[in-house]
Amino acid sequence: MKHPSPQAPARAEHPRGPVALSHVSLLGIGSSVPERRLTNADLARLVDTSDEWIRTRTGIGERRILAEGQVTSDLGAEAARRALANSGIAPEAIDVVLVATATPDQPVPCTAAFVQEKIGARNAMGFDVDAGCTGFLYALQVGRALIASGAYGNALVIGADALSLLTDYQSRETCVLFGDAAGAVVLGRERGRARITDMQLGLDGRGAHLIQVVAGGTARPTSAETVAAREQYLRMNGREVFRFAVDKLAGLTRELCARNQLELDDIDLVIPHQANGRILDAAASALELPPERMFCNIEHYGNTSAATIPLALDEALRQGRIGAGQRLILAAFGAGLAWGGALLEFEAD
Ligand code: ACO
Repeated sequence: MKHPSPQAPARAEHPRGPVALSHVSLLGIGSSVPERRLTNADLARLVDTSDEWIRTRTGIGERRILAEGQVTSDLGAEAARRALANSGIAPEAIDVVLVATATPDQPVPCTAAFVQEKIGARNAMGFDVDAGCTGFLYALQVGRALIASGAYGNALVIGADALSLLTDYQSRETCVLFGDAAGAVVLGRERGRARITDMQLGLDGRGAHLIQVVAGGTARPTSAETVAAREQYLRMNGREVFRFAVDKLAGLTRELCARNQLELDDIDLVIPHQANGRILDAAASALELPPERMFCNIEHYGNTSAATIPLALDEALRQGRIGAGQRLILAAFGAGLAWGGALLEFEAD
């Protein structure tokens, strides 16, 4: 039998049977952001706002925005290539490509098709997962379950969003918040960097109206009238979402600890969805968690929706904020209202 090498691995052998969900591992990670920067000063030229207001109320200093002609799958494919290189797995050995996005390249086909083609994952099936800012964790659970079932070997799970597409640059309440990015992980059933030992997801459609784009679907097809009313852009009830977000981040973290017989002190780092720096501060304070154990990189990217968690995880690993033998919680919330949490245990060296 030929042994795969990092340069030209053979296609992974088909798994022989189901394994426990907790045996699915993270084998590699990568991320990608566009070159183009949109600073607070740029926004202050578009709407009535200021660098001071944006920094103190959100913690955001700048965001990255797609260049002309650049699309969501470009970011997703670049993040995927980096995750593959990081894992030493060839694109041909990927069986599943999942793209979590609320901003696909086109309504049809799925963005996973464009990513699959761009990276050459020609043996994979794939599809998109739309759960807003919680999308990456939803896709992670789907990838994990497909692998654990025994039906598939390696999965690429990508969070890629370009919320600049849905942002109304005439609305100061929302335009300061959003940016574009992608992050990706490779999952498999062999020993990797970390095991995803537990996940918890939820959805409460009673809050569907709190974050929404009202036009462009069957409920309200795009028309001259919807465009004139700027209904193609994302609207939200910022204050309600803020309250929900703080409660959810703290609640998910506590619940994941309790379900796994862990204390908060056993968690080395929490990586939350980056929606607003004040939400993270309030959640850390509700948990009595020292601020350095709540990862925050929102200053540089803003809220990049499904990309915030894999982008932050990639940065945290590169900065040495988390590593061998440590425990990590990922926690997200967003449109739906949806939420999700994951407990990761890094393998000892
Ligand atoms: N610049 C200057 N002033 C502003 C701006 C701005 N960019 N935006 C709002 N204001 C004003 C308001 O008009 C208001 O003025 P008023 O008092 O004269 O009426 C004042 O600032 C305070 O407004 P609030 O809405 O109370 O401001 P708040 O401190 O709550 O911050 C924000 C608003 C940043 C939107 C916050 O509520 C928030 O971050 N909410 C959560 C957003 C979120 O997490 N969304 C989920 C992700 S979205 C997704 O899933 C795709």
